[in-house]
Parts: sequence; structure tokens; C-alpha cells
Amino acid sequence: MTAQQTPLEYLPPDLNRELLPKHVAVIMDGNGRWAKRQGLPRIMGHKRGVDALKDLLRCCKDWGIQALTAYAFSTENWGRPQEEVDFLMTLFQRVLRQELRKMVEENVQIRFVGNLTSLPPALQAEICRSVEETKDNRGIRFTVATNYGGRQEIVQACRAIAHKVQQGLLQPDEIDEATFERHLYTSGICDPDLLIRTSGEMRVSNFLLWQIAYSEIYITDTLWPDFDRSEFHRALCAYQQRERRFGKV
Ligand code: FPP
Repeated sequence: MTAQQTPLEYLPPDLNRELLPKHVAVIMDGNGRWAKRQGLPRIMGHKRGVDALKDLLRCCKDWGIQALTAYAFSTENWGRPQEEVDFLMTLFQRVLRQELRKMVEENVQIRFVGNLTSLPPALQAEICRSVEETKDNRGIRFTVATNYGGRQEIVQACRAIAHKVQQGLLQPDEIDEATFERHLYTSGICDPDLLIRTSGEMRVSNFLLWQIAYSEIYITDTLWPDFDRSEFHRALCAYQQRERRFGKV
């Protein structure tokens, strides 16, 4: 079978199953620009962005990737126009409600990272429900970074560790990388092997600052709503060409 004839759900034959990233993280950038180019309001870009994310999650599942983390809303995104923020919060809530049954059926385990306590209560309730109902699923682990900031995550980890030291539960000399990682929101999730950023920007924008220490970074000019299976295939091909040395020779 040639690459052209391979059914969509199968891993393309030019990809090596053994060399797939276990965990892919995405910075979904370019929704606003996509909408502008189509002459549509920005919110339409976010709506199409959800479709692109759903397709990517299904693709990761089909191709045997174990974990996907998506940057949905950063601690800095509150600075956007109020109506866009409100739209995004309502969109997250609606998508979670609509997709929960399918996630349960498809064995997706969803979790959220970020400071969730300042999200609208109705969204928090939807988040709790989706986490609870998928917690025993053992298929792909889907993590959504919502009101997430890498610096904020590191500060809250330091604070939690400092409290334990103050209470005598931990000695300063016992604090090592493993201890630190256990206090991050991402505790228990392996670090991303591949970080993808769409829309051409060359920055990490406060995303998973600790966790991406050795991630391979792939940047494409494609805007997020246009990031489809063939784009993901291209990103994986590029990843498989990389030589990962983790600081060694
Ligand atoms: C960045 O594009 C995108 C966002 C801030 C929102 C991303 C959110 C989604 C795609 C929805 C995810 C949904 C769930 C349920 C997890 P931008 O607005 O910064 O685009 P621009 O740089 O072109 O203005």
C-alpha cells in the first residue's frame, strides 16, 4: 500500500512506530489570523480551532501516541477583550459537555493543568465532571492547559514545597528534581517529546517551561485551524529525523 492509499486511521508507512513521540504538546496559535484571512470574526477562528484539536486528538489515538497536551488558555490570555474571554470560557464549557460521551467511549483520559480555581464556576463544574468520568480510562491521556502559566506553575510548586518544609514534612536537602516534579500540575505525566507551535512564532510563551527542557520543537507557519493530519504527519517526519542527545554526545 502506498502512502496515498493508506487509510487515514493507520500510521503512514513512512513513519517509524518505534520512534514516535510518546507525548506531543501543542501551542495552538493563529486562530485570530485565520479568521481575519477568511473575513470572519476572531471567535470563528477559535471555533475552527476546536475542530482542529478534536482531529489531532483522534489522530494521536489512531497512530498510537500516548499523550497530547494542548495550550487552550494562558494566564496572560485574560488580557484579551472581555467578549473574547467570555466566548472562550463558554466554548470550553460547551465542548467539554458535548464531547464527554465520546471521550468516555474512546477511552480518553482527560485532565487539566493550570490555576483552575479562577475559572467560571460552570466551567469548573464541567472540568470536574469530565476528569471524574474519564479517570479510569487507559487510552490516550489528553491534558488541557487552561489558565496555565509555566512561571505560575513553578511558583506554586515552590510554595507547596516551602509549606512542607515549614511543617517539618520535608528537609531542604531532600528537594531534588523528582520532588519538584511531583509538585507541578503535570505530576505523573511524562515530559513532552515534541512541542509543536503553529503560525510561525518562535517562542514558547510560558508553556511547560520545566517540562520542555529536552523536547524537540517544531514550528510551522500553518495557522492552527489549518493544522490537519497531513501537517501533523509532516511534524512527525521532522521529529523522526532529529537526533535526540539529551546533552550527551
Ligand atoms: C491562539 O490563537 C488560540 C487561543 C488562545 C485559544 C485556543 C483554544 C482553542 C483552539 C479551543 C480549545 C478547546 C478546548 C475545549 C480545549 P490566537 O487567538 O492567539 O490567534 P492570533 O495569534 O492569530 O490572534
